[in-house]
Amino acid sequence: MKRTDYCGALSANDIGKSVILQGWVNRRRDLGGLIFIDLRDREGLVQVVIDPSEAAAFALAETLRSEYVIEVQGVVRARPEEQRSKRLASGDIEVVAKELNIFSQAQTPPFLIDGSIDAQEVSEDLRLKHRYLDLRRPEAAAPLLLRHRISKAIWDYLDKQGFIQVETPLLTLSTPEGARDYVVPARQEAGAFYALPQSPQLFKQMLMMSGFDRYFQIARCFRDEDLRSDRQPDFTQLDIEMSFVEQDDVLTLNEGLMQHVVKLTTGQEIKTPFRRLPYLEAMNLYGSDKPDLRFELRLSDVSAVFTKTEFRGFAGVLNSGGVIKALAVPAAQAGGLSRKVLAELEQQAKTFGAKGMAWLKRDGEGFNGPIAKFLSSAELAGLRTLATETGDTLLLVADSWLVACQALGAVRLKLGIDLGLVQQKVLEFAWIVDFPLLDFDEETQSYTYMHHPFTRPHDEDLDMLETDPGSVRAWAYDLVLNGNEIGGGSLRIHSLDTQKRMFAALGFPESEAKRRFGFFLDALNYGAPPHGGIAWGLDRLVMLLAGANSLRDVIAFPKNQRGTDPLSDAPGQLEPEQLAELRLRVEKEVVS
Ligand code: AMO
Repeated sequence: MKRTDYCGALSANDIGKSVILQGWVNRRRDLGGLIFIDLRDREGLVQVVIDPSEAAAFALAETLRSEYVIEVQGVVRARPEEQRSKRLASGDIEVVAKELNIFSQAQTPPFLIDGSIDAQEVSEDLRLKHRYLDLRRPEAAAPLLLRHRISKAIWDYLDKQGFIQVETPLLTLSTPEGARDYVVPARQEAGAFYALPQSPQLFKQMLMMSGFDRYFQIARCFRDEDLRSDRQPDFTQLDIEMSFVEQDDVLTLNEGLMQHVVKLTTGQEIKTPFRRLPYLEAMNLYGSDKPDLRFELRLSDVSAVFTKTEFRGFAGVLNSGGVIKALAVPAAQAGGLSRKVLAELEQQAKTFGAKGMAWLKRDGEGFNGPIAKFLSSAELAGLRTLATETGDTLLLVADSWLVACQALGAVRLKLGIDLGLVQQKVLEFAWIVDFPLLDFDEETQSYTYMHHPFTRPHDEDLDMLETDPGSVRAWAYDLVLNGNEIGGGSLRIHSLDTQKRMFAALGFPESEAKRRFGFFLDALNYGAPPHGGIAWGLDRLVMLLAGANSLRDVIAFPKNQRGTDPLSDAPGQLEPEQLAELRLRVEKEVVS
């Protein structure tokens, strides 16, 4: 027999049709002498009825249990009016079986997958351990089907725009994207290791130097970093690089691509061009370089109000070069800010590095709150311009600029969710632009790169690389969607001299730059076109378009939060012979 249709694809249009279906028994019910089976395949379910008059099929049907794999030949008929089901897409019809085959039997699965319980009630590790069962649930499979359509839309659009797909190596040398490398020992050379790529960055740049002009790849990347719900150790990027372009060319191409992908896969129309927010504005207004723009609470800088303050906490911060940031919550929403909620919000600010969070609630011409008694009349007047009505509430954090922004940004996000301000089902895209090239690391007292060391500085800032590195602007941009960073890229350095100056500004001795990136510096010697590109976090985009909460939901076989694979139990130990062959010795873990 050969399958004629998918179960979930049958409808009233097929009434009278003779069909052959193959799939899994979702559930069997014996009712009034008849046997009913919900038969499942990747497209959904259909009800199959077996009548005792079909003796052979009926005898087999009596032995069926959940998850048996079977084949049914039968005829589609309309269900009696009162038996129609809204639960199933195929609920208006059923298939009357004439013949039945069993391909394989199945043990009782370790958790119910017939839709009778919510998957959230099953521990995620158990679902991932038996992911092949978990994926039989149509809701679990749906994000992967969406993912397929997204990849297809990307391929089609970029192909039309003249992009060439090229694969780059997985066994390679370290690329500096800021995480630890996963390494692979090289059998041929004792003590030598490949690194798995954190991204194809250097290869795509060398493809531009090869003249490929427009490249893309749906590329696997590997980063050993602390895991969160939006991070996986091995993940997928849509990687793009283009020659002879300026920043606007890259952004415009990506906007068109995103519009196409979203329209084709969700039907939603999104507006382009996306909003462009300079990094400083994003931090100052939203306290984040990946702001959630689905709601409009904004931060302000109120340092100027407090220049002469008697309140020691604020004065100390201002004297040491810090700032005071405020988040104004309008009375209509501030009603929800009980003392308990305010304490939770302060805890949130502390988690993000603040030493505390003050609050002031407008009451007539004055304010209530623990620090109200310290305020002068001039300060009150200053604050009244932000909190214009009784009940308006100001949340205040005094700290270094970065900590004050980030802590209050985190409070803003929590408020957006807790007070229900976030508009659901809206896709708010934005570009964050004008990043600084370098970031000063207080711990090591040195500069590090904001994006990666191949990012091109603005030409007119080049001379500050040696004198005032912190002020150099980069041609770098991040793509943000609903508070998530879903992509990042830059124009690249295409002159060897500038690349060497960049390494010097990063404190890389020339010898180290040569040792780690000599091959790339060599390539820059032979004529490099101006170029730039971007990488999208494909898993993150799929997660957001699928409405999923975790990257694990959009990856077929994901790692859990501890970075292990519950299905195969990877990572695992090597056999002594494998270690010997690789000339590796493992230190015994010291148990204290
Ligand atoms: P970047 O490091 O910003 O840039 O990575 C690009 C995008 O990849 C996604 N991403 C991740 N997704 C899941 N799990 C992870 N562990 C993870 N890490 C990053 C994010 C991020 O925006 N080579 C540069 C790109 C370029 O300059 O062209 C790069 O990799 O969505």
